[in-house]
Amino acid sequence: MARNDLRSIGRAPVATLADIIAVRCARRTLLRGAAGAALIAGVGGPATLLGAARAGAGAAQPAFAEIAHGVDETHHVAPGYRADVLIRWGDPVLPGAPAFDPRWQSAANQARQFGYNNDFIGFVPLPSGGAAPEHGLLCVNHEYTIPAMMFPGLGLPPESDPLAGLTKEMVEIEMAAHGASIIEVARTGGHWSVVPDSARNRRITALDTEMALSGPAAGHARLRTDADASGTRVIGMIGNCAGGITPWGTYLSAEENFDDYFLGAAEGHAEEENFKCLGLPGGEYAWGRLHSRFDITKVPNEPNRFGWIVEIDPLDPAATPVKRSALGRFKHEGAAAVVNGDGRVVLYSGDDERFQHVYRFVTEGRHDAVDRAANRDLLDRGTLAVARFDADGTLSWLPLVFGTGPLTPDNGFHSQADVVIETRRAAALLGATPMDRREDVEANPVSGTVNLILTNNTARKPEQVDAANPRAGNTFGHIIELRPAGGDHALATFRWEILVRCGDPAAPEVGAAWSADTTEDGWFASPDHCAIDHGGGLWIATDQGDKWPKSGTADGVWRLETEGPRRGTGRMFFRAPVGAEVCGPCFAPDDRALFASVQHPAVDGAEKYPGFERASSFDDPATRWPDFAPDLPPRPAVVMITKDDGGPIGS
Ligand code: FEO
Ligand code: CA
Ligand code: CA
Ligand code: CA
Repeated sequence: MARNDLRSIGRAPVATLADIIAVRCARRTLLRGAAGAALIAGVGGPATLLGAARAGAGAAQPAFAEIAHGVDETHHVAPGYRADVLIRWGDPVLPGAPAFDPRWQSAANQARQFGYNNDFIGFVPLPSGGAAPEHGLLCVNHEYTIPAMMFPGLGLPPESDPLAGLTKEMVEIEMAAHGASIIEVARTGGHWSVVPDSARNRRITALDTEMALSGPAAGHARLRTDADASGTRVIGMIGNCAGGITPWGTYLSAEENFDDYFLGAAEGHAEEENFKCLGLPGGEYAWGRLHSRFDITKVPNEPNRFGWIVEIDPLDPAATPVKRSALGRFKHEGAAAVVNGDGRVVLYSGDDERFQHVYRFVTEGRHDAVDRAANRDLLDRGTLAVARFDADGTLSWLPLVFGTGPLTPDNGFHSQADVVIETRRAAALLGATPMDRREDVEANPVSGTVNLILTNNTARKPEQVDAANPRAGNTFGHIIELRPAGGDHALATFRWEILVRCGDPAAPEVGAAWSADTTEDGWFASPDHCAIDHGGGLWIATDQGDKWPKSGTADGVWRLETEGPRRGTGRMFFRAPVGAEVCGPCFAPDDRALFASVQHPAVDGAEKYPGFERASSFDDPATRWPDFAPDLPPRPAVVMITKDDGGPIGS
């Protein structure tokens, strides 16, 4: 979400010579030669040599022609493809839900319609497990709401009171627009569409969906409230950004910027250190004025009930979602599960805030491929660990286990519950590596690597640079590959290397004015979410934040080369309308459709959009994508991209 960047406080520092050499040289040019590899090793860590050694291995290149870079009111996709809106904010989800009418919206209607700012998309085939099904369930997160874009007449909030004008009904519409949608989709004639009024469809909201909380923190005093003396029942989920689908077909949804939703004061609070470590209370929403549980002064433990990975069974619309506390509590983004060779399930996750960490969870039990129900509580027991990246290319997984190392009563940890509730503090005590905003994570079953996306960190100072975060004032982000030896994802140490330092290789100076003429340049900025096709191809969605895009082009989807001489180069495949980021890319099981979320159209950087040049609102938006109807606002939407000849995406 762009909101992270609103907090950006660092001025871009002047690039060092090493930075310039590193950015200018780090990719295709020098990867062709050993001399270049040696130079890169000097600035990026020896692991980069592995990339040089593989150069020339060759890999199938995507067959599509890159689309022109730029910014305009609509979306674009590579020639030979089409992009159709599958579902938009306000479209009916539950049977009998009313049609969208933003001028007569209500919380009750919104709770039955598709929510706002769709993000992660997961596909679960029907019947479960099919390889080329004609039916499936799309699991879609609704990350956050933007009142100025949702409510007619509200306008932009005054600086003196950013929460002004929000009524109880508006707040509850916002709460109902958060959470998730599960929608049945079917394919006819090569195109997927939503099955109307399906009994499988479900809305999960922040307003009234009851969830369980399991694992080491369940029932702990720090999770109990007057409304829930058990400390195991939570209403709703918030800030759900990326996620994942487990090998047993459940949907993992990651609570990210949950701090934004709370009001009150942390100073003097019993949980002051814990809350400040997470930015609580963020004060971005009016919810706490009208629902006391979002005021930390009135309900002190409520924030401890958010910031988890939520597991949802999409095959059972009545199933209670479960917050799995064993996976830790932080600003979760991404949840990539793989079945290890020994049957244990390994889940990669991470914390999207500057200088926060990368995590791994290894289950105690083993995956049961025959009896789905046997996997139901696999994520409740296992070992959570955090990553330390060393300059010699070693990645060490440091166990976050109560009683080991510094995780003892001397440091305020009295049980594993304390460790998972304060995962950030525990990770820092262990010496984990602070990263440049780790966003999505995906394991690549074809290459055996795990891709970590780091979107940017403009606050990193030259003296804070390390091998895994090699650029000060990292405006454009980078991507790291993890390499578990022999494909054993449970090993205590891995190897790692940088796949790409994002940004224009021809103009690497940090903070430079970028050329608008970037077509065919093969570069992109601020990678955010990713997806891997069934041939192992890596596809990147970008989010350049809330300002005018520094790359000179709107956010979009790129296909990234990961092998051969073009390793690290991208090709733009899809471009979003002005103000939107793209997130949640997800392939259909046969790769013949790519679903992607277009989030917050008309919002980011609208003030600099030529001919518009002011901030967007419901009544006066920079674009009315996707409907372009004069009485409708812009609407976040899931698009479905297909190839005109019906073939796999990228073929
Ligand atoms: Fe929701 Fe990390 O972006
Ligand atoms: Ca995002
Ligand atoms: Ca982002
Ligand atoms: Ca992903």
